[in-house]
Amino acid sequence: MKVTVVGTGYVGLVTGTCLAEIGHQVICVDNNTEKIDKLHKGIIPIYEPGLEDLVRRNTEQNRLFFSIDLPRSINESEIIFIAVGTPSKPNGEADLSYVENVAYEIAKAAKDPKIVVEKSTVPVETGNRLYEILHTQNGHKVKFDVVSNPEFLREGTAVSDFMRPDRIVIGTESESSREKMKRLYDPLKAPIIFTDISSAELIKHASNSFLALKISYANALANICEKTGANIDDVVYGMSLDKRIGPHFLKAGIGYGGSCFPKDVDAFVRIAAAKGISFGLLEEVQSINELQRTNFVEKIQKKFGSLEGKTIAVLGLAFKPDTDDLRSAPALDIIAGLQKAGAKIRVFDPVAMDNANQKLSNVEFTVNEFDCMKGADAVAIMTEWPQFRGLDWKQAKTILKKPILFDGRNLFSLEQMKKIGFEYISVGRKPV
Ligand SMILES: NC(=O)c1ccc[n+]([C@@H]2O[C@H](COP(=O)([O-])OP(=O)(O)OC[C@H]3O[C@@H](n4cnc5c(N)ncnc54)[C@H](O)[C@@H]3O)[C@@H](O)[C@H]2O)c1
Repeated sequence: MKVTVVGTGYVGLVTGTCLAEIGHQVICVDNNTEKIDKLHKGIIPIYEPGLEDLVRRNTEQNRLFFSIDLPRSINESEIIFIAVGTPSKPNGEADLSYVENVAYEIAKAAKDPKIVVEKSTVPVETGNRLYEILHTQNGHKVKFDVVSNPEFLREGTAVSDFMRPDRIVIGTESESSREKMKRLYDPLKAPIIFTDISSAELIKHASNSFLALKISYANALANICEKTGANIDDVVYGMSLDKRIGPHFLKAGIGYGGSCFPKDVDAFVRIAAAKGISFGLLEEVQSINELQRTNFVEKIQKKFGSLEGKTIAVLGLAFKPDTDDLRSAPALDIIAGLQKAGAKIRVFDPVAMDNANQKLSNVEFTVNEFDCMKGADAVAIMTEWPQFRGLDWKQAKTILKKPILFDGRNLFSLEQMKKIGFEYISVGRKPV
């Protein structure tokens, strides 16, 4: 089938590439010329494991194309995915201007019927708004269907998430669009749920908010553990063996970040408020998440009394491993907090250093973990990169001024670090 994906970011590029991989003819469009130029040269503008090989194979086999020409790309395909950003407005609502602009462009340019698919995460009832734009701005008087097809991929495992999804959600009121979307995804052999458009839109915000809630729940428990001497790992493990609860996302640390959870929870609170419903539960999820960052800064501050002139080596900047994405990364706020308290900061992240260069000031960028830790007063882990787990911590101990490790991701057992001789301060567990 012929598909155009508008927006070639984390979601659009993965969606377009994976649809090409399962045999469709795909054009990925972006209005960022630099991004499209890079893709034409075979350079992937984001870090996403496995994506480069797929892009290369599918471009070589003439199934995947890149373009900045939106009107032309719209007329090459019957199915148009909108995968542009929906960032937070200052008041927390989702900014739909990028999505709406694309809808205007589609309405003006389309010369034959199109299925317009909302892939971006949008508030419930955005489908109605798209339908209104498409039909009032309809330049060539063609038929448009709107479909909601939210995306659940996770950065870092986006390709496998797309190729082996837990479920595919398709919201549409049109029988023929339902059939075509089913055909599109058929090769994935994944469970498909068909709903109306509003329900599909809600499934996305409801899912992300629920996952954020699980993280904040674990973090609230971690704070109780710290006051009582209990161990959050044991508490969460004990809970997780109950099949009704399960282990996923019950993970204490410095909180969630990234381009989705913070903005989606925020947007969901506003969506409810606009309907006269107070979603205080999610507001608490947000407060707990913020608190984890300040708590971590305070822990470091408390250890030293004053951070004036102290050097903290920060390992990990990305909001999670296997991505270079720094959007709403907890590390950024924590670094700002430490700097405000007078600390000097040195940083290292395996893949996010280029992005960090644009976001951080007054920090020393280093080339690896040991370069980062050399002579520092303490080390603080902010992202659970597997390579930090496997580091030679015995050697690390010898190059730090003092062996003090603040672990914002609970990478190690207390026994492990005690044995090596680190003063080890983590989240929801006794310091050792
Ligand atoms: N990143 C994730 O893990 C993830 C997962 C699921 C859903 N989502 C949702 O998917 C959407 C996209 O997220 P993302 O992380 O891929 O964003 P992104 O910022 O990485 O990519 C968006 C792209 O759209 C392009 N764009 C904007 N306006 C355009 C226009 N008029 N024409 C052509 N291109 C245009 C931008 O240049 C950019 O490359 C958001 O709604 C997000 O909430 C993201």
